[in-house]
Amino acid sequence: MLQHRPHTTVVLAMSADGKIADFRRSPARFGSRVDQAHLEKQIAASDAVLFGAGTLSAYGTTLTVTDPTLLEHRAQGGKPLQPVHIVITHSANLNPETQFFKQPVRRWLLTTTAGALSWKGRLQTLPSTLGNGAEECRPEFDQILVFETPTREIDIPAALKHLATLHITRLAVLGGGELVASLLGLDLIDELWLTVCPLILGGNTAPTPVEGKGFLPDLAPKLQLLEVHTIEQEVFLHYRLQRPGD
Ligand SMILES: NC(=O)c1ccc[n+]([C@@H]2O[C@H](COP(=O)([O-])OP(=O)(O)OC[C@H]3O[C@@H](n4cnc5c(N)ncnc54)[C@H](OP(=O)(O)O)[C@@H]3O)[C@@H](O)[C@H]2O)c1
Repeated sequence: MLQHRPHTTVVLAMSADGKIADFRRSPARFGSRVDQAHLEKQIAASDAVLFGAGTLSAYGTTLTVTDPTLLEHRAQGGKPLQPVHIVITHSANLNPETQFFKQPVRRWLLTTTAGALSWKGRLQTLPSTLGNGAEECRPEFDQILVFETPTREIDIPAALKHLATLHITRLAVLGGGELVASLLGLDLIDELWLTVCPLILGGNTAPTPVEGKGFLPDLAPKLQLLEVHTIEQEVFLHYRLQRPGD
């Protein structure tokens, strides 16, 4: 299928019982160093990363590329050292004191007309996106993208088409489950990387890779397993979404 939107890859770590965080929705730090490096590699391979407001509030920060080889590879490819970090939220009720806003990355906000109001026209002294320790006066969000449906939901297909016009060809989707559910429901996911980690988190309210209402088997997105790697105690599963005609 010809894509007029970025190629999308979900990257998540989960417990052996399929939870992406504990029942307190703590930041998920149960992946090993190998899993962290895997996540960083996926981020370094993308032009932008997308995550929900719940994920931002759980972690307070975003993962940046620090591995020298990955940074060099981006530089050689003529890419900015860091991908764009895009937060999706209807309300945009985010804490401006969060460490995320002090990280030397380009931040974009994908929100509604109402959500955009409180973030427009703000200027702060923030670390330069060049990552050289310098500071500059700029808004917390370098771009505010408003794409709204008539029912005031975020028009994600229109937003993704717009991202493609801004040279975002590869988009890493970093969670959480609510965002992944909405993208899967719109058939906007191309690949999934799931790391199965050796612990059990349990809990009937603990988040899973895909929240939302769920799918009945007939309409469930179907996957094709592309590769499996076992490294020490973790299993790295790489799937692609099957589409009609595949
Ligand atoms: N293990 C892992 O790899 C991993 C990765 C990421 C996150 N997590 C965990 O996942 C949990 C967070 O998950 P979550 O379910 O809260 O997910 P989330 O998708 O990160 O956040 C949900 C919020 O994001 C916004 N949002 C998501 N999809 C949207 C859409 N289609 N349109 C508009 N806004 C949208 C909404 O914000 P508003 O309410 O502001 O409108 C929504 O309330 C945390 O516990 C975190 O630790 C784990």
